[in-house]
Amino acid sequence: MSILITGGAGYIGSHTCVELLKANYDIVVYDNYSNSQPESLARVKELAGKDFPIYEGDIRDTKRLAEVFNVEKIDAVIHFAGLKAVGESCVKPLEYYDNNIGGTVKLLQIMRNAGCKRIVFSSSATVYGSENEVPFNENMKVGGTTNPYGTTKLYIETILKDLYSSDNTWSISILRYFNPIGAHESGRIGENPNGIPNNLMPFIAQVAVGKRPVLSVFGNDYETKDGTGVRDYIHVVDLADGHVKAVTRLLTKTGLDIYNLGTGIGYSVLDIVKTFEKVNNIEIPIQIAPRRAGDIAVCYADAQKAKVELGWTAQRNLDDMCRDTWNWQKNNPDGY
Ligand code: NAD
Ligand code: UFG
Repeated sequence: MSILITGGAGYIGSHTCVELLKANYDIVVYDNYSNSQPESLARVKELAGKDFPIYEGDIRDTKRLAEVFNVEKIDAVIHFAGLKAVGESCVKPLEYYDNNIGGTVKLLQIMRNAGCKRIVFSSSATVYGSENEVPFNENMKVGGTTNPYGTTKLYIETILKDLYSSDNTWSISILRYFNPIGAHESGRIGENPNGIPNNLMPFIAQVAVGKRPVLSVFGNDYETKDGTGVRDYIHVVDLADGHVKAVTRLLTKTGLDIYNLGTGIGYSVLDIVKTFEKVNNIEIPIQIAPRRAGDIAVCYADAQKAKVELGWTAQRNLDDMCRDTWNWQKNNPDGY
């Protein structure tokens, strides 16, 4: 079975490629390298000890993408390609709507024309908005996103639901990720943010390696055990394994299913800092800063549905996530 991976050179995509190859799937990667480098895929090949075709291209380039479906036999698509910076999406909403929504619509049209109707989509816990109570489960009402990035995920979920209603021969798996962190245990692939990291763990890693002097903790007055924001951090290799399970299920059934991929455990910002310090024996200086606009206090998953239907649960704990992040960062201080 051959799986097309859009955005396969990126953080989650590259880890998923390794796990798919380990599970004996054939893969084809399609990426425009707007937020990644070809080196990540060279390392995927090295880790898996296998070769696979790579196409440099944009999902909005219908001619190029259609060519891939003509040349390769594609049984299913895992669709990671998209822009993901929350702050940037507020400054450049049209670019986000064009790339994420426009790109996905084009991909779906080409898939339909090629007769390939199986897709796994990277969604986000951000679609739960700020009104639901934790733990978030898949039956809750979605909406109330606070930035254009989140809204693209919400709209794409709606587009996929409409598509399935119009043609129930599609197999669609919407995966709502919580907070992916960590890296492959080899330290060869990991998260490689451009510029100043927006997310907590890459920022901590850059403080640890001496690139940034201090971590700003955004708010210590939330209604949480220590006042700092609580999230459901999930090891990226566990997340990758969730994609293997989701795509395997797609190959045998039609339908549209939504799954949370999280651990079901919430950790605060200070929990993360303390665990990183303990596991890696490195001090992380912090300063308390104002709350960040758009942040919610607490976000964690009810991860039962993925357990029951996909047979998937996260295997790695917070110590593993902190150790593997540092192993990647210290071996690749400047990324790829
Ligand atoms: P990433 O930026 O590392 O990977 C995305 C990849 O897509 C990159 O390699 C980029 O070059 C490529 N890409 C972007 N636009 C493209 C286009 N138009 N055509 C072809 N390739 C394109 O991000 P990631 O963290 O690996 O995230 C993967 C997916 O998961 C994204 O859709 C993201 O929104 C979603 N997601 C990520 C998180 C997270 O915290 N990392 C959380 C929830 C959802
Ligand atoms: N935080 C800090 N300092 C930092 C960065 C983050 O204190 O320098 C705090 C945030 O305020 C929050 C927590 O650390 O309480 C986690 O923040 P992240 O930016 O790492 O993650 P978010 O939960 O804000 O966002 C992530 C993804 C989004 C996705 C969202 C919901 O980045 O793409 O989860 O799933 F939409």
